[in-house]
Amino acid sequence: MGLGLAARGFKAALTAASWRYTGLRAYCARMETRGLLFRQLFESESSTYSYLLADVESREAVLIDPVLETVERDLKLIDELGLKLKVAANTHCHADHITGSGLLKQRVFGLKSAISVHSGAAADIMLTEGDKITFGRHSLTVRETPGHTDGCITYVTGDQSMAFTGDALLIRGCGRTDFQQGCSKKLYESVHQKIFTLPGDCLVYPAHDYKGQTLSTVDEEKKFNPRLTKSLEEFVKIMDNLNLPKPAKIDIAVPANLVCGLHEV
Ligand SMILES: [Fe+2]
Repeated sequence: MGLGLAARGFKAALTAASWRYTGLRAYCARMETRGLLFRQLFESESSTYSYLLADVESREAVLIDPVLETVERDLKLIDELGLKLKVAANTHCHADHITGSGLLKQRVFGLKSAISVHSGAAADIMLTEGDKITFGRHSLTVRETPGHTDGCITYVTGDQSMAFTGDALLIRGCGRTDFQQGCSKKLYESVHQKIFTLPGDCLVYPAHDYKGQTLSTVDEEKKFNPRLTKSLEEFVKIMDNLNLPKPAKIDIAVPANLVCGLHEV
């Protein structure tokens, strides 16, 4: 009896501690809170993250930045979870991998693709600042964040608790600005005006990570991002001197992504 009470007390303390630690939000790649189902998915060749979000009640779902090579895996998960995929939404016209949007459209009846109107790419839904992608009781709002490319957008959840920043803001980094209409001044302004103005505890989910990190927060990046904490002048200098090699797949990925990933696929 005594032991039972102690065990119950310990469990209660543990539960309270967990809630304090997470602040009512699960800081992991798998959570299901406040009626939002969420999965972070990874493609290892291009180190790309895709994000599946769904409304628990209506089962309507959105997949952000699907990758061609992982379409079957993603469809299997969507099927297992009993979801209805409504929109395949890209953060921009990628240079390092082919989007899975086109193939998904062939496989899922009624699925619509979405991308920025400024991307130069074809899609069913052409997005601009303030547009909303709705799935059940949830939605993603578009914030235009150009600089890495002209058509980069950040998707923000309705409660501003999560931002899908594409290549505009990476964890302790940012997308390169030396091709595809890249402009470091524009990128700096986009991040400061459109992402750093979100609540400090807003979770930042980027399109890539090359070091095994899965997410960050607005506050963390405002404090620790080695590039974006600098002045605009210093940032431009850093970006001008990265001297990065060309992405291996750029010559096939960009033409393919301009037509929803279906170019010679
Ligand atoms: Fe990119």
